[in-house]
Amino acid sequence: MDRLVKMQGLVRRIFAILATILVGIFIGFIFHMIQVNKFNNLDREITADSVTMEVTADIHPRGLITDSWEKNDAFPDKVINAKIYEATITNNSKCVMTDWSLRINIHEDCYVNNAWNGVVEIHQFTDKERVQTLDLRNYNAEDIILDYYLAGQDLLIPLKNGDYIVYYPDTSSSSSEVPLKSTAEYSGQTNIGIIMYSLSGNVDLSDFTMQYHIHKSYFADLTGKIYLVLLPTWLLIMLVGGLIAWIILGFEGQLIVQRQMLDDTFNLCAVVADAKDYYHREHSKNVAKYSRFIAEHMGMDKSDCDAIYYSALLHNIGNYSVPESILGKATQLTDEEKKIVRMHTVKGAYLLETINSIPHAAEAAMFHHERYDGTGYPVGKKGDEIPLIARIIAVADAYDNMNREKLYRKKFTKSEIIEEFKNNAGTQFDPMIVDVFLSIINEIEE
Ligand SMILES: [Fe+2]
Repeated sequence: MDRLVKMQGLVRRIFAILATILVGIFIGFIFHMIQVNKFNNLDREITADSVTMEVTADIHPRGLITDSWEKNDAFPDKVINAKIYEATITNNSKCVMTDWSLRINIHEDCYVNNAWNGVVEIHQFTDKERVQTLDLRNYNAEDIILDYYLAGQDLLIPLKNGDYIVYYPDTSSSSSEVPLKSTAEYSGQTNIGIIMYSLSGNVDLSDFTMQYHIHKSYFADLTGKIYLVLLPTWLLIMLVGGLIAWIILGFEGQLIVQRQMLDDTFNLCAVVADAKDYYHREHSKNVAKYSRFIAEHMGMDKSDCDAIYYSALLHNIGNYSVPESILGKATQLTDEEKKIVRMHTVKGAYLLETINSIPHAAEAAMFHHERYDGTGYPVGKKGDEIPLIARIIAVADAYDNMNREKLYRKKFTKSEIIEEFKNNAGTQFDPMIVDVFLSIINEIEE
C-alpha cells in the first residue's frame, strides 16, 4: 500500500510539474501575444525620402514616358494637358499590410481628374479648408462642395500649392490593394492610377507620405513557432503520461490487492499454527519479522527477504498435528509426547511442499529445529548442511521464545538473551547469524 501511495504521490508531483509548465507556457504565450499586438498596432509611415525597404511607394508617369494624353478646352484662355500617374506600393515586410493611405502634397497649380480603384480625400485651401472624399469614377456633381469644373464628361478639381490629396485603397475583395500580401509569398505589389491636368502636363507628385499597418500572426516568427510546437508537445506528454500512470497505478493496485490476499491467507495460517498454545500468540508473526530483519542485514535482496518472511510465518504450520493438550502442557513432556511435537516439522514440510510461490518454505519448516552441532531434530543435520533459511529462523525462533513469558519460567532479560546466544553460538546456532543478530538486537527490541 505504501508503494501505491508513493506512486500516486509521484504521479501527482509529475502532473503538478506539467501543470506548472503549462501555466508557464500560457504566461509566455500571452506575453508573446502582447508583443505581436504591439507590433501590429504600431503606426508606420514612410515618405519619399525614406530609406527603408520594408514598404516602398513609387509615383511615376505610367509607362515611364511623358505621355501627353489629352488636351482640354474647358478654359478659353489656356490649354491644359493630362497625364496618367501610377503609384506602385510594394510590401517587402514579410507581413500583410492591413491598411494604408497615400498623401500627396501639391506644390503647383494643377487639377485632379481621376483616381482608381479607391477613394480620394481632397483638401482645398482657399478662404478656408474644404475637405471632401470622392470616388472620382463614380460621383454626383451636385454633391461636390469643393471648387470644380466640368469639361464635358471630365471633372476637374483645381489644386494649388499647399493643397493635398489622400488616396485610400479599395477594400473590396475584388481588389488586391488591401490587404496587401508580402512579396515573400505573393506579388506583394499594387498599382493605383491618378490622372492629373496642368498647363505643362507635368505635375510634381514626388512629395508624399504613406501611413500603414502591417500584421503578422502569433506563429509567424521563431518565438511563435516554438509555442506552436510546445503546446502540442505538452498535450502529448499529458496524454501519454496520463495513460502510463493509469496503467501503472491500475496494475500496482491489482498487485497490492493480490499481495494483501496472500498476506491475509498466510497470516491466517500463522494464527492457526499458534492458536493451540496461549503462550505462543503471534509467535510466528514475530519470528517472520525478526527473520526478515536478519536477512536484510545479511545483505539479501528483497525477493529473498520476502521468501524468508513468508517461510518463517509458516514454519510452525505443522502444529496442526499436535494436540492442544501437549502444546499447552505446563509440565515436562513424556518421550512419546516429544516425538509427537517433533513431528510438526515433518508435517509442516509436507504441507509446504505444495506451495511453489515461496522458495525453501518446506525446508524452513523441516529444519528449523536442527542444531548447528548436529544434535537437533528431525534429521540431525549440522553446520552448513542445515539450509540457511532454517538457520536464520532458528535464531529468530529462539529469540521470540526467550523474549516471552512461559508457564514454567519468566521472560529473559536482554543481557540473559545475549549471554544465551553467545553461549550457544556454534552449538545450537550458526555463529555467523548470531553475530548478525546481536549487532541488530537493539533495533529489533525497539
Ligand atoms: Fe517449531
